[in-house]
Formats: sequence, structure tokens, C-alpha cells
Amino acid sequence: MAAEQPTAANLHAGTGPRDHDGAVFSCRDLRYTYLDRFPALAGVSLDVRPGERVALLGPNGCGKSTLLKLLDGLIFPDSGTFTAFGHPVTEDVLEDEQFSTAFRSRVGFVFQNSDTQVFSPTVRDEVAFGCLQLGLSEDETRTRVEDVLRMLDITDLADRAPFQLSGGQKKRVAIASVLVMNPDVLLFDEPTAALDPRTQQWLIDLIVELGAAGKTIVLATHDLDGLDTIAGRCLVFAEDHTIARSASPTDVLADRDLLLQANLIHDRSRTTR
Ligand SMILES: Nc1ncnc2c1ncn2[C@@H]1O[C@H](COP(=O)(O)OP(=O)(O)OP(=O)(O)O)[C@@H](O)[C@H]1O
Ligand SMILES: [Mg+2]
Repeated sequence: MAAEQPTAANLHAGTGPRDHDGAVFSCRDLRYTYLDRFPALAGVSLDVRPGERVALLGPNGCGKSTLLKLLDGLIFPDSGTFTAFGHPVTEDVLEDEQFSTAFRSRVGFVFQNSDTQVFSPTVRDEVAFGCLQLGLSEDETRTRVEDVLRMLDITDLADRAPFQLSGGQKKRVAIASVLVMNPDVLLFDEPTAALDPRTQQWLIDLIVELGAAGKTIVLATHDLDGLDTIAGRCLVFAEDHTIARSASPTDVLADRDLLLQANLIHDRSRTTR
């Protein structure tokens, strides 16, 4: 009998209980300014529940990518609190190796630009990297890598150099290198940007499948097509770096003023030329 095709639902099933009944993320009054000059978050509060798929929407420069970096523990707020799985996450706390390993294994981030994410000599090494960093055995790592390569349909790229791949192929490799660690939470920064329509649809389907498998997903997007498929809830940023609305995709899509404010649609009557 043919081996069962790996899917989001059965990939590495049984790696551990999902032990967080409360919020996955709790953020209160987060403020973040780059270089003391460029405000990015000006008092942002949100909760993300287990299994939610949340879309961050809003104009360029409003703070979506900054919030994702904060949720991934890559940067830390100037003020406000960030709690993940019931534990406060701070720079000091993440210096603790045990906490850091646990946090990093539970939260995965797919960057907008895959070039900043892929750096190993081959795709297989790239996808294996995170597992080896987490201290998984070579056998376990090999099994996971082969499963995830098959799941993302990139087995034929396994021996290629990631930096020589096309943008869409690199995106699949970047996603594989995150999924291989089987995180509870996936953060995607503009996942469908710069992908051809078929690959966009493939990625939307994958995100929905991951959500159905119980993953918590937070993604930043400007893409209204498929918003109601990809997300269960939207957080709409305003230009002042605060969250203006938390609403269902249906309500957001029906609110023309909100869509205009968030630069998600464009009012041609206001264009001068
Ligand atoms: N590395 C940085 N150094 C200085 N300022 C930055 C840096 N990264 C972002 N900013 C500024 O922080 C603000 C928020 O940027 P951020 O990238 O979070 O926005 P965004 O909502 O993701 O925008 P986009 O839709 O264009 O991706 C912007 O004003 C931006 O210029
Ligand atoms: Mg961004």
C-alpha cells in the first residue's frame, strides 16, 4: 500500500498535547518606535485564541510587519505587555534557553521576503536546519524533512541551492522550513504577495488546511480576494499605528469607508490624474 500522503492534519501527529486553553497571544498597549523616531505601534492591544485565523489589514507603514516581528519575539515593545501561551515574553525571558527553545518550537514565522529566510547550501539542509537547532535527532529530522518536502510538493528541489530558486519556489522552501518544526502558531507576512494566481490559491488552501488542523494563524495581507476564506477575523490598522477595528471578514468587506481608510480599496473619483 502506498504511504499516506502527509497533510497538515497528520504531519508529525502526536508530538505533544496542545496545552493552552487560554489565549495564544495577549498583547496590551504595545508601543514600538524604530530608532526613537519612526513610530510603528502606538498602543496596540489584541488577543488571539487557539485555532483562530487572524488577518492584519491596513495601509503601508501602519505596523503590521512590526506586530508580527513582536509576536515572533524578534523585537520587543518599548512599553506594553506581550504574553504568549500564558507566559510573559520579554528579551530577558527569551535569553533563557529552555524557554526560548519552547517558544521557538511553538511559533513559526514566514517572512514576506524569502531571501532573508533561506541561506543553506541545499533545500534539504535548509528545511532540516530548524529541527537540528531544536535538538531533534538526525533520524527524526530526516523523516520530518522528507514528509514536509512531499507535503509542499518540492521533493524534486531537495538538492538545489535555495538562492537559485524562483520566488515562488523559495516561498515553498521557507514555508517548509517553518512547518517542519510543527509549530502551534504560524505567522505569515503577506504570504500571497508576488505569487502567481495558481500558487496564491495553493497557499490559501494550505493556510485553510493548517487552520483546520488546529494551527493558530496570524497573517498580514493587502489581498481582499479570498480574505473570507483565509481569515476568521480581521484586525484593521489605521495610519496612526493603532487597531481601528476587529471584525469578521464579511463585515470588513462590506464597510467601504473602512476599506478606503485602510487603503484596501482605492477611490478613483479622488484621483487627480
Ligand atoms: N527597520 C526599520 N527602521 C526604521 N523604521 C522602520 C523599520 N521598519 C519599519 N519601520 C517603520 O515603521 C513603520 C511600520 O512599518 P511596518 O513595516 O510595520 O509596516 P507595515 O504595516 O508592515 O507596512 P507594509 O504594508 O508596507 O508592509 C513604518 O513607518 C516604517 O517606515
Ligand atoms: Mg509589512
